[in-house]
Amino acid sequence: MAELAGVFAASHGPMIVRSWDKLSATERTSLDNAFLELGRRITVARVDALVVISPDHWVNFFIDNLPSICVGVGEAHGGPPEPWFKAFPHRTLAGHPALAGHIVRTALERDFEPSVSYQLALDHGFCIPLWKAKLDPLPAIVPVIFNDIEPPFPTVKRCYAWGAMLAEAIASFPGRLRVGVLATGGLSHSIGEPDMGRIDEAFDRDCIRHFEKSETPALLDFLNQRLPTAGNGASEIRNWVAAHGAAGGRGFELIDYAPIPDVYVGCGFASWKLHEQR
Ligand SMILES: [Fe+2]
Repeated sequence: MAELAGVFAASHGPMIVRSWDKLSATERTSLDNAFLELGRRITVARVDALVVISPDHWVNFFIDNLPSICVGVGEAHGGPPEPWFKAFPHRTLAGHPALAGHIVRTALERDFEPSVSYQLALDHGFCIPLWKAKLDPLPAIVPVIFNDIEPPFPTVKRCYAWGAMLAEAIASFPGRLRVGVLATGGLSHSIGEPDMGRIDEAFDRDCIRHFEKSETPALLDFLNQRLPTAGNGASEIRNWVAAHGAAGGRGFELIDYAPIPDVYVGCGFASWKLHEQR
């Protein structure tokens, strides 16, 4: 059977790429080191396949058809599609249709109804962490898109349950395969709102403290109360919640947190607690 080899989370703010030249040397070093440490931990976990949970930033879907959750079941996925993403050449990444299909079937058996796509473009939400973590070779990717962009959103409780189901699907996948889960997005940020660029550092630090503990009800209560006030981009923390669920709620270990005004995002990086890593 397959094995859950590691659970990871990272921010993906597009200004990490678009405003890179505006950042101070200290900020660039901080971000580079955080992504490299993320990549090191993924490499140490020796993952053959990586389930990457990210939102879709109006690349694959629009308001005429906006799935709450969509699993990429294709043989390959290309990205990034954004024309401003020149620092990263477009690549085609191998998918893992067998694992992706098994995740979808397990989801249906557990009363989830995800959408499926045989052809997903991987936007900056996927590509920034994957590229900057410098994974070489890149594992096969199973992209999972959560709607964190346009309300109504999946509840944080449902996202946690989805992550737990994902862990069950990985554990029951036939064949020897080490599978990682990487959630991307958050922490606080505000995009296209009157307070665009505001970073709620107090929220971010409280959020990190909750993820570090294994007290899931308190985490979900905190997010239900505070997510609506932490900027619209904070909705992406739902992906972290799913990863937390996949990790069995054991708690995350922080890699780094850097609130960077020119990136507009409270940038957070974490993995499941290493002392329990199998
Ligand atoms: Fe995003």
